Amino acid sequence: MKIGVPGETAPGERRVALIPETVGRLVKSGHAVQVESGAGTDSGYPDSAFEAAGATIAKDAASVIGEAEIVVTVQPPAADNVASATSGSTWISTLDARTDSDGLQRLASAGVTGMAMELVPRIARAQRMDVLSSQASIAGYKSALIGANMLGKYLPMMMTAAGTVPPATVLVLGAGVAGLQAIATAKRLGSVVEAYDVRSVVKEQVESLGGVFIELPAADDAEAAGGYAREQTEEEQAAQRQLLADHVAKADVVITTAAIPGRPAPKLVMADMVEGMRAGSVIVDLAAETGGNCELTKAGETIVTDNGVSIYGPVNIPSMVPNDASRLYSRNVAALLELLFDDDGNLNLDFEDEIIDAMTVTHGGEVRFSG
Ligand code: NAI
Repeated sequence: MKIGVPGETAPGERRVALIPETVGRLVKSGHAVQVESGAGTDSGYPDSAFEAAGATIAKDAASVIGEAEIVVTVQPPAADNVASATSGSTWISTLDARTDSDGLQRLASAGVTGMAMELVPRIARAQRMDVLSSQASIAGYKSALIGANMLGKYLPMMMTAAGTVPPATVLVLGAGVAGLQAIATAKRLGSVVEAYDVRSVVKEQVESLGGVFIELPAADDAEAAGGYAREQTEEEQAAQRQLLADHVAKADVVITTAAIPGRPAPKLVMADMVEGMRAGSVIVDLAAETGGNCELTKAGETIVTDNGVSIYGPVNIPSMVPNDASRLYSRNVAALLELLFDDDGNLNLDFEDEIIDAMTVTHGGEVRFSG
């Protein structure tokens, strides 16, 4: 098959969808890969590395897309890019399928089969294809480094000739894929780590990483389908905030990662809780893009409150670690392609397969995603 990798068009996006390692494997299996010149520059994969792996380099995105039977990107395609795609081709990327119905309609109208990487089902067989996990893990790791960097303190306990410095306390709210990686990283850096999640199953995982799990007495377990959390009632949220207020007040760094798929981020840190924090403390809010877990978060900005607390709402953290984020994304796509190709290396969209069925959001001119 002819596989095309255009450069990313979203502002600030530094990742690339396929890296030379994956391209080399695809070429060895008989596929032709064309990459837009410069597509991997920001992530540390120059054109020469793609060429060495057997790809051809094209000057512009329109020809990469127009000549491809399968186009692979990280972010959803811009309208211009869809216009360059051939009817009957397949576009594999994150597609924001839950929120961008216009984007899906555009792909369907262009006769393009859209496969949404964010809709890979959370089943054991699909783990290798799960971009939400691979990218969340990167985001969690980086959030701990960002918190450490913003804090005017050591993270570890330091015994120096000038006396002992106590360790900092990092509080992680939401201990899913990103949160667990934030806990592991903060722990490696020597801080004392506390964590909270509405799913009680997480307690053991937090403890195995050396974190202390904060338990909410008498809470119903909030695990829903696919291992995700269900949304909390108003009453449950109020109880959570009360429990968390003390822990938030004592923390040097608060990293928040709580999310409910397809819903605005739950508000866990309210303005009055921030008022209770010490000057110099830091909040890194990974949920900034979906409204923030902290009431005061502004996506893409760092604000400093009157009492001296810095609140950062990073957007697209995986793009801040573009080399490894691209490596993992590329491997996720490679695992998907392995599933999609038949023995002759042709695309075989078997909708009986639950992974293919769940991800294919447009096909045959129709939108086939119903939410
Ligand atoms: P996510 O990004 O949707 O949510 C992050 C965390 O926020 C979750 O742990 C969730 O329980 C927590 N949360 C939601 N509301 C909260 C609240 N009000 N207060 C505190 N915490 C709250 O989820 P993520 O990290 O993508 O995955 C969650 C879980 O899904 C994983 O821990 C795992 O059990 C499961 N999973 C399964 C996979 C598979 O089987 N292939 C792959 C990846 C994850």
